[in-house]
Amino acid sequence: MIPNQWYAVIESREIKRGEVLGVTRMGMKLAFWRTSDNSLYCIKDQCIHRGAALSKGDVIHHHLQCPFHGFEYDYTGKVKIIPAIGRNSKVPEYFKQDTFTIKEIGGLVFLWWGEPEIDPKNLPTIPMFKELTEKSFKYNTITDHWAVHYSLAIENQLDVVHLPFVHKTTIGRGNRTVVLGPGVELLDENGVNELQVWVRNEQDVGQNSIQKEIPRINNAMLYFRFPNIWMNRISDNIRIFVAFSPIDDMNTLMYVRFYQKGGLSFFRSFFGKLGALGNRIILRQDKRVVLTQNPKKSSYSMVEQKLIHGDRPIIEYRKLRSELKARIKSSL
Ligand code: FES
Ligand SMILES: [Fe+2]
Repeated sequence: MIPNQWYAVIESREIKRGEVLGVTRMGMKLAFWRTSDNSLYCIKDQCIHRGAALSKGDVIHHHLQCPFHGFEYDYTGKVKIIPAIGRNSKVPEYFKQDTFTIKEIGGLVFLWWGEPEIDPKNLPTIPMFKELTEKSFKYNTITDHWAVHYSLAIENQLDVVHLPFVHKTTIGRGNRTVVLGPGVELLDENGVNELQVWVRNEQDVGQNSIQKEIPRINNAMLYFRFPNIWMNRISDNIRIFVAFSPIDDMNTLMYVRFYQKGGLSFFRSFFGKLGALGNRIILRQDKRVVLTQNPKKSSYSMVEQKLIHGDRPIIEYRKLRSELKARIKSSL
């Protein structure tokens, strides 16, 4: 995991008001809880008393109550009430569990994975694609669990060479095996690191693709923002979005959204469902192959893989990933 980053970890709608949700993310058991005034909090999913899962507890007003002996936690992770000593007795300061800074945007919950000493008021911009937070864009989500490190799932979405093979019956029809470009641009705006990718695939008529750079025409096709969100710009009105939520070092939960805007709401809901179904079929084709890859986690210094020019987006991703990790180490 790259430290000091905002990770998209779950969807907002997974936790309703007054509910608690227990999930494993970033290799840790976490409890997300939402109060009746719609504030969302995140705490390590383990009671400091005798270790029960707080995610099995209840939201009581502005507290999260442990299901075992009723200890009540506030949003800072402090125990405020221990029923067995009387509700009005003072609780010692060290009765406290770790909490995490989270923010909701675009129906996603972003978790700050970083150094505790950084002031939560001075955190960098959340990397969500702003256009997708527009009200006019509607989306349908599907989720899928992949037993690989999240970096490997990301690389698959930056892979512009696999289409005529993995997706030969769907989006890769037409035997366009030759990859022209791909063009890659790296942007850093307000600390948000973005990779933009564009490419042209052609049938093999004897051309040499290595010598051909392709110009970028208006918008790029693929957009990836560190550490874990990706967008495919299909047209002005359609986007595919993926959040690669790290469960732990060997497991990733994919949140795949089909976004669309414009048109009548009846057709939008029909196409939304169709789009989500299409995503599921395409994702299955990817998963079948990605799960067989070795090693299960990518790194920039990997010598056992012999890459080609079409892998440039993947190379740039690995490079920046290792740079971001090194930057943290040197700043410590
Ligand atoms: S284990 Fe939570 S209150 Fe006892
Ligand atoms: Fe694919």
